[in-house]
Amino acid sequence: MNLLIDNIGELVTNDPALGRGPLGIVQRAAVLVEEGQIAWIGRAAYAQPADRRLDAEGAAVIPGFVDSHAHLVFAGDRAPEFAARMAGEAYTGGGIRTTVAATRAASDDDLRATVERLRREALRQGTTTIEIKSGYGLSVADEVRSLRIAREFTEETTFLGAHVVPPEYTDRPDDYVGLVCGPMLRSAAPHARWIDVFCERGAFDADHSRAILTVGQAAGLGVRVHANQLGPGPGVRLAVELGAASADHCTHLDDSDVDALAGSSTVATLLPGAEFSTRSAYPDARRLLDARVAVALATDCNPGSSYTTSMPFCIALAVREMGMTPAEAVWAATAGGARALRRTDIGVLRPGARADMVVLDAPSHLHLAYRPGVPLVRHTVHNGVPSR
Ligand code: NIG
Ligand code: FE
Repeated sequence: MNLLIDNIGELVTNDPALGRGPLGIVQRAAVLVEEGQIAWIGRAAYAQPADRRLDAEGAAVIPGFVDSHAHLVFAGDRAPEFAARMAGEAYTGGGIRTTVAATRAASDDDLRATVERLRREALRQGTTTIEIKSGYGLSVADEVRSLRIAREFTEETTFLGAHVVPPEYTDRPDDYVGLVCGPMLRSAAPHARWIDVFCERGAFDADHSRAILTVGQAAGLGVRVHANQLGPGPGVRLAVELGAASADHCTHLDDSDVDALAGSSTVATLLPGAEFSTRSAYPDARRLLDARVAVALATDCNPGSSYTTSMPFCIALAVREMGMTPAEAVWAATAGGARALRRTDIGVLRPGARADMVVLDAPSHLHLAYRPGVPLVRHTVHNGVPSR
């Protein structure tokens, strides 16, 4: 059974060969979907009839959002910590241990229910691909079950055993790094596509991070790094040195970090929900874009620093606070995320790509930033199947 999405006022393809400008915009368009893939894109006037028709009623259609950075496997929340921050306390990442304790105490069913709730919430807001990290288990058994549960919801799973040193290893961090590099990695790798490290003062330094990421790479995992979030540091340069798919956060960069990213295939993934929720200065997206660095936007959804699943919210923040144009932000939240996951079948609408799309309740992609906080997702089409 095929599906024709018809009467599209503005179609963002992200393929400049198909339409106007960097977003490859086609006006008065239609998209034919067959077996979960895009079969044809063109002017609505030339569309052939299909088994099923979805009338976009002149609205804009964009590729589904690719949220390339989320921590969805956790228990409990940290609303009081958020309230304390909004009353003036600083974010240090110390609350991660609170979530580790709650996650270890939770049942598999509780963890699964949380991931399911957040995945559904994200889908309703147009997210068709989501990366999910472990990192609140920090024991072999708890990291493995976090990844197993994440795998029930996405292929893009990331082993983040090196989130922080857990309390039982505080006075012997080298032993924890040994555990992560040995037994934990061996058990986690079959359930993960990626490995990640929180490379930051108070978490893992450059030597520990390099050791962990290098053995992860040797085990066949792709590399991504939590880098330069809370202060300047070696994370971004390490990510580039290891050929990481993505350096995430990139909030505190010096010229050498920007130069390293500019000469590399590493995407800078910016997570403005974290700066919003920790009341911190935003990363300078304009500086990165002007240096021709590929930029992605993601939610960083987690109970501590950024409890949002909303990619439209991140787009609005990136435009208002980080110097991005609406077009750059929409690209970063779709094609940018796909590049950060080294995927060519998503984040773009062209024949052969996955039929992942958002029908907006708006005539143009500009409205995602122009109408902040408004639910503008009318339908999410995921693998060719419309949500409503
Ligand atoms: O990406 N920076 C490290 N990890 C998360 C925060 C986790 C937490 O506070 O629970 C982040 O912001
Ligand atoms: Fe994160």
